[in-house]
Amino acid sequence: MNTMNAVRPTTAQPIDPMEFREAMTRFASGITIVTTADGRGRRHGFTATAFSSVSATPPLVLVCLDKSARCHPEFVTATEYAISILRSEHWGIAKRFASKIDDKFTDDFVGDEYGLAHLPDALASLSCVTEQVIDAGDHTILIGKVVSVRLGDGVPAVFFGRKPRELREEQDQSSLSSPAKPLQPVEVAFGPSNP
Ligand SMILES: Cc1cc2nc3c(=O)[nH]c(=O)nc-3n(C[C@H](O)[C@H](O)[C@H](O)COP(=O)(O)O)c2cc1C
Repeated sequence: MNTMNAVRPTTAQPIDPMEFREAMTRFASGITIVTTADGRGRRHGFTATAFSSVSATPPLVLVCLDKSARCHPEFVTATEYAISILRSEHWGIAKRFASKIDDKFTDDFVGDEYGLAHLPDALASLSCVTEQVIDAGDHTILIGKVVSVRLGDGVPAVFFGRKPRELREEQDQSSLSSPAKPLQPVEVAFGPSNP
């Protein structure tokens, strides 16, 4: 039986925005870097946890972008963008792309066939063409059709409770008394962009 009180949307009181934010910190996620290039070839990018798979056929993903981000105008008019799914070692890059510095791009990145910047040692990276741009409150939802995928390997970057976290291996019954073993990062063999 559902023990939660049913509240009709029409009679619901406005919720406390702080409480809403706090609730969202309870959702553990991976971390991504989303990049695009403008008409002059200038690259733009931001760190995003608001990323999700949307559809398998066709392959669609979404990213939510804050309207106050400096790169917002570039992404809402972009026809293509790239999404790199980060490994735990990439937290420094995630911080750089969450900052307001002017040049976020370094030698860490490689270009794909669309001229988009990908992290070569990402856990996975996707090249997307814009499918829909949806207005949603103080964010814009970017829905992209995935046109190319690259797979890497390693330990995922995880964000939970406003902090980056370490993903640890589950303990089996025989090792319950010993501390959890951290997963070991695996060297990534990244193939060329067009294998
Ligand atoms: C872990 C983490 C996750 C973030 N996730 C998002 C997100 O999903 N969407 C978003 O718009 N901003 C997100 N941000 C904030 C942006 O990365 C940040 O505002 C960025 O500086 C925007 O770029 P710009 O204003 O320089 O263009 C996140 C920041 C961090 C540290």
